[in-house]
Amino acid sequence: MQRQMPKTFFIRTYGCQMNELDTEIMVGQLTQKGLKQVFDEKQADMMLFNTCSIRDLAERKVMGKIGQISRRTKNRPIIGVTGCMAMAKKETLFRKLPHVDFVLGTNNITDLSNVLDEVIHLGQKSIRTTDQFEENLDYLVAKRGDKIKAHVSIIRGCDKFCTYCVVPYTRGQEVSRPLEDIKEEVRMLADQGYKEITLLGQNVNSYGKDQPEWKTLFHDLLYHLDAIDGIERIRFLTSHPIDITEELMHAIATLPSLCEFVHFPIQAGSSRVLKKMHRIYTKEQYFEKVELLKKIVPNVSLGTDIIVGFPTETEEEFCETLDVFKQIRYSVAFLYTYSPRKGTPAMRWKDDISDEVKNDRLHRLMDLHSSIAAEHRQKLLNTSIEVLVERQNKDGYLCGRTRCWKKVIFKGPASLIGTLQNVHLHSCNHETLVGGLHLSN
Ligand code: 5AD
Ligand code: SF4
Repeated sequence: MQRQMPKTFFIRTYGCQMNELDTEIMVGQLTQKGLKQVFDEKQADMMLFNTCSIRDLAERKVMGKIGQISRRTKNRPIIGVTGCMAMAKKETLFRKLPHVDFVLGTNNITDLSNVLDEVIHLGQKSIRTTDQFEENLDYLVAKRGDKIKAHVSIIRGCDKFCTYCVVPYTRGQEVSRPLEDIKEEVRMLADQGYKEITLLGQNVNSYGKDQPEWKTLFHDLLYHLDAIDGIERIRFLTSHPIDITEELMHAIATLPSLCEFVHFPIQAGSSRVLKKMHRIYTKEQYFEKVELLKKIVPNVSLGTDIIVGFPTETEEEFCETLDVFKQIRYSVAFLYTYSPRKGTPAMRWKDDISDEVKNDRLHRLMDLHSSIAAEHRQKLLNTSIEVLVERQNKDGYLCGRTRCWKKVIFKGPASLIGTLQNVHLHSCNHETLVGGLHLSN
């Protein structure tokens, strides 16, 4: 069927920050091509779904949504599927969802315009799903929604092959981005008034290892970026504990813009389960690293990801996870029940923990997390803390985050958006800290 070039598009993003950045790049590409982004899906001539495959629920949400649009008989938009599901399902998506017009993999974002042209001019379905990323993406075209904080990709792919995870299959091997390209983008963001950058990668700590001749590892990159004027805060996501080096810890302690927050995902508290997950560290080795980090960066806050109900996990082993959580007292935690993924080694093992047990473990861990997070907030009351002001809420309160990622609101003029303020914290409203401008500001 001959289709018309769309004038408007709607894009929905699922999953991680890398997907959010990829969406910003695609929005930039389509805007350059003359299309207009709309936020009401009924106004869209084209709908893009930038998808996630990490858990079954993420995939089911997309399938349901596309199925719903496909049932429209009038004004059905062009439908494109991008992201990890495009890689995990490839051409089978056309069979499962016959109204999908194109499928574009995580390593083919550069081809978006060509794929769309094929759909329009040749009137045929189109697919690009290259397994390996080639560093040919124009990041500078990204159209960002936020004016203060920006994501910057430094490495794509993952070589770790944890037994439960689809990412090494949906995003391919690790490919680092050249230092000069990253510096150029960060300088551009600083010139545009951005104050905070988050460096992104499935494992940022592997930066440079695939390109030994560059002689630039992750901590070296941080020294280069800290030297760029105008960027007040640098964060990074996400890390594999095995690759967190002492040099990185010293960079966090030394560099003024580097925030004292490290996402340090343990995944499970039992060494036996960690081995089965192929996390390549034991609980004891993990603790040693955390101790070293706390010695070098005494005021560091830690974040984690944890999966409960991994095949064969016993109640005692789950209790080890609770114990680790109590000892480390993470301030940020993303907690999941195990979801078997096609193509991963763990898929070979029976998913032997019932949903009931998985959910029970998840809720016990969530309760522990909530009480520890409340304790962290309580400790901050009656202290003053640096906040990067991000926006003004509808109720007039300014809203921002501390260096360790705590959300803070306080009264003040909109002119403070984009500035660092010292805020005196006096109370909590659910998970948000409430304060007032410190008198010495
Ligand atoms: N099931 C549940 N959680 C998973 N994660 C990755 N794969 C799975 C899976 N199959 C979690 C891990 C990872 C985070 C991004 O998602 O905790 O760190
Ligand atoms: Fe997945 Fe493990 Fe790679 Fe993280 S390190 S993306 S959990 S395979």
